[in-house]
Amino acid sequence: MAVGPYILGVESSCDETSAAVVRAGEELVSNVVASQIATHMPYGGVVPELASREHLRNIVPVVRQAIAEAGKSLQEIDALAVTQGPGLAGALLVGVSYAKALAFALDKPLIAVNHIEGHIHSVLLEEKQKGNHQLQFPVLSLVASGGHTHLYLATKVGDGWRYENIGRTRDDAAGEAFDKVAKLLGLGYPGGPIVDRLAKHGDPAAVKFGLVQLKHRDRNDRGTAPVRPHFDFSYSGIKTAVLRYVETHAMADGIEQRRRELGNAPTIGDYLRLCDAMTLNLVASFQRAMAEDLVAKTIAAAREYDVMTLLVTGGVAANSELRTGFEKAAAKEGIQVLFPSRLLSTDNAAMIAAAAYSKWLAKDFAGSELSAEANLPLR
Ligand code: KG4
Ligand code: ZN
Repeated sequence: MAVGPYILGVESSCDETSAAVVRAGEELVSNVVASQIATHMPYGGVVPELASREHLRNIVPVVRQAIAEAGKSLQEIDALAVTQGPGLAGALLVGVSYAKALAFALDKPLIAVNHIEGHIHSVLLEEKQKGNHQLQFPVLSLVASGGHTHLYLATKVGDGWRYENIGRTRDDAAGEAFDKVAKLLGLGYPGGPIVDRLAKHGDPAAVKFGLVQLKHRDRNDRGTAPVRPHFDFSYSGIKTAVLRYVETHAMADGIEQRRRELGNAPTIGDYLRLCDAMTLNLVASFQRAMAEDLVAKTIAAAREYDVMTLLVTGGVAANSELRTGFEKAAAKEGIQVLFPSRLLSTDNAAMIAAAAYSKWLAKDFAGSELSAEANLPLR
């Protein structure tokens, strides 16, 4: 029989309510994700109050389904894991309160997990499932999602992981830029998947965007600490550049028409009918610039820190051009690059249950005082 522990993960940090059962950080037993995209779509972005309400509505059936799909009873679960943060305070609170109550009722240990660490472990879970248990440390991880664009240098200390932030966005996150650009072009929400599909129909060389290089010395360096360069990102400028392009190229009518005519579940045919060549070229050029910038900065950081293994994760890691760009650049550098499957790139509870495993080994359990932390740092 397979050796446990079987950990039930619960994730509710943003707009997905998810529960999953993972065995020993290496076998995905079940993973249920209730997406709230339809709820937030009319608003063109996540509405925090609606997110909390949807989590409240979904959490019980989602956990029940994850347990049923795992073919287990709640009593057969060895521990619970829950996203403590970062994320939307009210949304996190639903998952944390529920997991605390369930752990108490079942008399099982509870493990608090950082959402960003979860994204990193989504890659590791799938690699272990494929039989790849060897990683060369330190590992460099790019976490690019709607809320984060972070570079972490990860090392293993005993059974646990330690993280050092060596880069982050100074303004908008990468996924946020995809979402904002899609919104301003009247393409709907969430932007990333739509831009990804439409970019294939445009010319990525049509519009030139200049993205800033932001390499700088350690923010804490006061002249005595060893010099550790940082690789920061900045994506509010490209959003403004797209807006300027739209204004100077008389694109307002097309945008208005898309806002009026793209219904709640548009097909790729609907998009293509409502997008002219100029719009498709703009979308393709925007995606090219984003992918090139994320790849270039991450590869430069890998070189600087002598890293041989790259993990690229978070919702934006689902982007096809970004994946191809990373594969090409990593092959050229002789670096290994690993991604989660598209399913585990975006928010899910399997990554939370997987990240909890090293804490289980270290008996790092949460007490009854556990609270949600919207700005929880990763260390
Ligand atoms: O990790 P995630 O599900 O939630 C957060 O923690 O934010 O990431 C969601 C973000 C959204 O901004 C979405 O537009 C972006 O990931 N995204 C993509 C793609 N799929 C999702 N961005 C670019 N290309 C994609 N294919
Ligand atoms: Zn996320």
